[in-house]
This record gives sequence, C-alpha cells and structure tokens, in this order.
Amino acid sequence: MGKNKLRRFEENKSFPNLFQPSFAEVYQKDHPNKGCWSRKVFKNNFPIVLELGCGKGEYSLAMAQRESDKNFIGIDIKGARLWRGAKTALEEKIENVAFIRTRIDLIESFFAPKEISEIWITFPDPQPKKEKKRLTSPAFLNKYLTFLQPGAIIHLKTDSRPLHDYTRQIVEEWEGMRLLEADTNISLSGRQNTDPLIAVRTFYEEIFLSEGKPITYLKFSISTRQGIATLPEEKPESEES
Ligand SMILES: C[S@@+](CC[C@H](N)C(=O)[O-])C[C@H]1O[C@@H](n2cnc3c(N)ncnc32)[C@H](O)[C@@H]1O
Repeated sequence: MGKNKLRRFEENKSFPNLFQPSFAEVYQKDHPNKGCWSRKVFKNNFPIVLELGCGKGEYSLAMAQRESDKNFIGIDIKGARLWRGAKTALEEKIENVAFIRTRIDLIESFFAPKEISEIWITFPDPQPKKEKKRLTSPAFLNKYLTFLQPGAIIHLKTDSRPLHDYTRQIVEEWEGMRLLEADTNISLSGRQNTDPLIAVRTFYEEIFLSEGKPITYLKFSISTRQGIATLPEEKPESEES
C-alpha cells in the first residue's frame, strides 16, 4: 500500500466527522449511533440525507453547503477517498456533514426506522454481472426501506445506461415506488444548467464526461416493500478492496 494512502488512513483515525467501525462491530449488530445521529452527532433535529458510494464526498459536501437545514452522511468503503471529504468538511467548517466507512451491505446496522429522509446514489459501480451487488437492486432497496421515512426520495446519477434502465424498470414494476423524474442525458436536456444540485460534478463524473459518456438521472419515491421478492442474503465481504 502506498505511503500516501497509509498516511490518510492514519489521519482518518483522528477525524471526529468520520465513523469507521470494524466489520465485526456492525455485522448483525447495531452501531452505537443507530437512532441517535441527530442527537449525538448533528445536535439538531434536521432531516438526514445519505449519499451512498460517496467516494470523495462531493455531493455530501455540496449539499451540506447549500442546505444548512439538513444533515448529510456520505458512505463508502474506501478510506483514502473518504479522507478527502472528511478533511474538506473539517477545513471548511461544514458541520452538517459526516462520513461512514463501511460496506453499504451493512447499512441496516446504522439507521433506525424512519431516521433517514432521502438518499443520493452517485455513480455507483454498475455491476453488470452481479445484480445483487447493484445499489438499486431489490436486495438493497429492501435494506433502505428499514430506515427510510414513507415516501422518501431516492436519486440515482449514473453514466451507466443499463443501470439507469434497470433501476427505472424496478421503480415502474414495484407498487411501493413512484417515478418522479427520468433523464437519459442531463446535458442534452439542459437539466445540469437549471438544477443546482444536478450541476454538482463528482470525481468520477468528470472522468465519464471526458470520455464523452452521457450522464443520466433518476428520481423516485419509495414507500413500502410491496411487489418484489428478494433472494436470501449472502454474508458480505469484510475487507476494503
Ligand atoms: C465509481 S465510484 C463513485 C464515487 C463517487 N460517488 C463519484 O462519483 O466520484 C463508486 C464508489 O462506490 C463505492 N462502493 C461501491 N459499492 C460499495 C459498497 N457495497 N459499499 C460501500 N461502498 C461501495 C466504491 O468504493 C466507490 O468509491
């Protein structure tokens, strides 16, 4: 492992806005902040929004700066990327944002029923061969339902047209979900110029744009788990890859 990565991992340990429990601490066990993020971490009762697969946390940071009456939590397994988000939040004194280093597969251990009001999923790995690993698969949506408020909004921004179409199909088939917006090219539609949140660009988004890939966006609400059955779960991998 490179020296820079090791230095970041070491510095991560001192960040008060970064939570990085071990796999054993949260596998089939509740994190100590479950149900208490408002009281223990943010010290207010504002709604909490998640960014899943946040990487360096561009969305979490940008949203936290724009919307001071909400709290944001970015989640990713990659410690060196989270370092960037957590460090920027500390340097710029952005107090309504925190980060969690964990596998999203374990997300139910972190949040209590109705604790979360909204989710952003920003450029997740499309997982063309492994449906169960897609962050918008029924397996993951069922996990999110354990802690989302009824009617919560989920946003998906991706360069992967297959993932966009796959997710849209699930939303349209599942009785508990409602499609609110679907855009297959945010620069052609002009959405990136009119919606300040859609205009935020992440590290990966810049790469995909430089490769000429269209960026897509989906917004949907989710209320109940009616309509879709999921296969039994496998034990998630414990290590950062
Ligand atoms: C393509 S990157 C996008 C990062 C960032 N959102 C961006 O747009 O620059 C996908 C991110 O999702 C994270 N990720 C994918 N699956 C995950 C999982 N099951 N649990 C935690 N993080 C995951 C990866 O570590 C990676 O940082």
